[in-house]
Amino acid sequence: MPDRHDSGAFYTPADVATSLVAVTVEQGPVVDPACGAGVFLLAAGIRLAERGADPRELATTRLFGADTDPVAVHLTRCALAGWAGVEPSGVAGVVEADPLVAGRSCWPTAPGAGFGAVVGNPPFLGQLRSGTAFDADRRRELRRRFPDLVGAYTDAAWLFLALGTDLLAPGGRMSLIQPQSLLSARDAAAVRGYLLGSGRLDALWLDRSGVFDGRTPVCAPVFERAPAETSEVTLLADRHLEPAGVAAAPIGTVGWGGLVAGLLGIPMVSPSSDGCVGDMARVTAGFRQHYYGLVGAVGEDADVATGRPLVTTGLVDPLNCRWGSSQARFAGRRWSAPMVDPAAVVDEGVAAWIDERRRPKVLVASQTRIVEAMVDPEGGTVPLTPLITVEPDPSDLWHLAAALSSPPVSALAAVSAAGAGRSTGRVRLTARLVADLPLPGDRTTWDEGAEAAMAIHEAGWMASPQLWRAFGKVMCGAYGVSSTPLLDWWWGAHPASRSVIN
Ligand SMILES: C[S@@+](CC[C@H](N)C(=O)[O-])C[C@H]1O[C@@H](n2cnc3c(N)ncnc32)[C@H](O)[C@@H]1O
Repeated sequence: MPDRHDSGAFYTPADVATSLVAVTVEQGPVVDPACGAGVFLLAAGIRLAERGADPRELATTRLFGADTDPVAVHLTRCALAGWAGVEPSGVAGVVEADPLVAGRSCWPTAPGAGFGAVVGNPPFLGQLRSGTAFDADRRRELRRRFPDLVGAYTDAAWLFLALGTDLLAPGGRMSLIQPQSLLSARDAAAVRGYLLGSGRLDALWLDRSGVFDGRTPVCAPVFERAPAETSEVTLLADRHLEPAGVAAAPIGTVGWGGLVAGLLGIPMVSPSSDGCVGDMARVTAGFRQHYYGLVGAVGEDADVATGRPLVTTGLVDPLNCRWGSSQARFAGRRWSAPMVDPAAVVDEGVAAWIDERRRPKVLVASQTRIVEAMVDPEGGTVPLTPLITVEPDPSDLWHLAAALSSPPVSALAAVSAAGAGRSTGRVRLTARLVADLPLPGDRTTWDEGAEAAMAIHEAGWMASPQLWRAFGKVMCGAYGVSSTPLLDWWWGAHPASRSVIN
């Protein structure tokens, strides 16, 4: 029997399906391209029957579904037949098929103009897990079918959105449950652009209530195949799809994190900026080989005669390095003061790489609630993958550190990562994201912020909340944004706010 994880088969609770159908389905025919046991089609049938349609006619000619699992197809037919009072064999629109490949041809009896509604919860098949990743044949097949939409990390669920768009009649509406990664993942940009190029985003549902029992956090775009009439998107939140205000409609392929920032408690900022981090510094991240190349070349401080401190993600705090005061994890064990012995690094490429890192730099952790960046003014530390290394001209070191540690940059990073972190609320940074972060527009105030950053670095873990908040406020000024409510949001997520008595 196929594993539920591997086929992405987690069925939707009936109340959630009913709520999504209520905001989506206005007319038939309706299709669910990955129908499972038919919960969405049943909800759609009930809704259209309440509007006067005949259940028998609906079940036999107006409700369509597909699933690659024959048991699911049988269950859907039985559910619709039982509801409408017809024979399961009469529910001819529900078929065993793979619509991602076969498209509309799965439903030869469907009307030529397309469907009035597409609903459902397609399988989430992320490419980072071996059980759900496409094999080479499947990837080729999907690339042929969706030439511009399949990247290295494309989730199958996103492709169902493209399929659904193609299946809709003009004026038709669609909502398909999606992993929240749709909102911000780089490889989802093409699908986001495809949707906006074919119609308008009417509403966006974001679940924060754990509808799937704490599995992948989900959302659902409510899409209409029609030109945009307004520039607003209605927001719906949590299990009962409560109205949660409106947001400005997105344009092009940009991330949709900004739409849900308010729902995730992230303040929106529009900084006045002058260039970006990548203009002023080289931003890099090590690869796997830079991690494994250090195994066997690390010892405790006391045992390594001429070594360089190894800094792990866990040792990076905002403007502070905990090397030697907190334990580090590396290569399956804990270390009190891990030192790299460069002479013991066997791989020449790795040896050259760590040699190049011997310069003043800022090290940025990659999975934190706010951006956490520490400064290595002498340049001796060796950053461990997945730390991100920012190497400016040494005279710009403290300015870069102040910019990266500022509240506006944390808010921007949180917005662009909304939905992408392994757990919601984590900023998942990459070298490219860091390089694209903006620099402050007001140089004089930024100078003040750089000095405050240096003072905090020197105070180390003794830096007071007053010092931190004063720094945060100055940097809000440098970016020309209001410190309310940004400063409180940032400080609430700041590790130092938890380790001191405010
Ligand atoms: C997440 S379940 C959801 C089922 C149903 N829509 C619901 O919400 O309860 C996904 C379903 O997609 C089916 N599936 C997986 N790959 C498929 C494909 N390529 N085409 C159609 N169905 C597929 C699985 O068998 C499973 O029944």
